[in-house]
Amino acid sequence: MNVKLNLTLVKERLTTRYVGRNLLYLTQTASTQNVARVEAQQDAPEGTTVLAEEQTGGRGRLGRPWISPAGKNLYLTLVMRPPVKHLRVLSIVAPLAIAEALEGAAGLTCRIKWPNDVLVGGRKIAGMLIETDLAGEAVRYALVGMGVNVNFDVEAAPEIADIATSVRRELGRDGSREEVLAALLNAFEARYTDAQKGDAAFRAWRSRLETLGRRVRATLGERVEEGVAEDVDAQGSLLIRREDGSLVTVEAGDVTLRT
Ligand code: BTN
Repeated sequence: MNVKLNLTLVKERLTTRYVGRNLLYLTQTASTQNVARVEAQQDAPEGTTVLAEEQTGGRGRLGRPWISPAGKNLYLTLVMRPPVKHLRVLSIVAPLAIAEALEGAAGLTCRIKWPNDVLVGGRKIAGMLIETDLAGEAVRYALVGMGVNVNFDVEAAPEIADIATSVRRELGRDGSREEVLAALLNAFEARYTDAQKGDAAFRAWRSRLETLGRRVRATLGERVEEGVAEDVDAQGSLLIRREDGSLVTVEAGDVTLRT
């Protein structure tokens, strides 16, 4: 049986000023990204949150699907309107907020695989996707999509069973989607505010990076870089020390951790 999210419980726990205050709750949609885009184009206020119980066409990064069964997990998109200089902090703030929410609300220890996969015990528990609309130099809006596996029976999805996990798998019992969601929205606003004032959010994100010090292969389209992930710069780009000693900066991409 699929249980509907209790929005009253979420609202009781919300401490934000604007994130999640305008909340659109959908039983089913193709992708919360699409709904949020329409909202953003119709001048929805910053922090507007589109949440769905089920997505029939959930999207992941790099054109991959995001498995989105009904009533199990969290699928949400935030409409944000950052100044262009703070656009990149969204991809630091989102995984950090998810990690902090899962720790606070479910007691899980979370790490981050650069740039923004949230891992528990080396398996992915959450991911995020940012889609942006720019007008020249200005950001019209950024859509911060987050998918968090809460009560997903990951073993029932053989295509991801080895690489994915959920709160339920980690705890051996169901977690509270309401508590995770409220903690996530609270952490997102707090960390987004931090990120505009100083480097606390960046340092917290960096300290969770599973990737640093590891041998990696980073793929960005046709480009492949291999070496040791030495550090990240203030923009969140990954600095890879190649075998020949040179240092290369990778701004985005897909990283495989090598043994
Ligand atoms: C990834 O790790 O590949 C990113 C996954 C992002 C999934 C979320 S679920 C809510 C929002 N709607 C989508 O279609 N995708 C994002």
